Amino acid sequence: MKMHIAIVGIIALGAAEPAFAQGADVSILASTCLSCHGANAQGSGGIPGLSSQQQAYLAAQLRAFKGGTRPATVMNRLAKGYTDDEIAGLALHFSRLK
Ligand code: HEC
Repeated sequence: MKMHIAIVGIIALGAAEPAFAQGADVSILASTCLSCHGANAQGSGGIPGLSSQQQAYLAAQLRAFKGGTRPATVMNRLAKGYTDDEIAGLALHFSRLK
């Protein structure tokens, strides 16, 4: 039950982000990243943080994972599930977290 409330809270916090016409709301997509990247996307257990990075860097990494030009363990698989618009939205979202 506590877990459920926490997830709803995370989604509600991101509700002010712009929604993308062609894809899912970026705040919902972003909430799926936090289980690995840390509750505030600050990094966790050797997984890099996202909140301290520039938008352009984050977007470039996600495109490189998607295109297979940056070797990875999981991000190469995950990134394939996102459109270029969604990648841009995720990069903007995480670059704004401080
Ligand atoms: C299953 C755990 C997991 C999930 C879920 C996950 N990541 Fe990652 N992420 C990683 C790992 C591990 C790395 C290091 C590269 C690798 O081995 O895949 C990484 C690396 C990254 C990097 C590169 C950071 C840098 O400093 O170069 C970005 C950007 C990134 N992830 C974004 C995301 C976004 C956005 C999401 C949600 C859509 C997400 N990740 C979801 C585990 C995860």
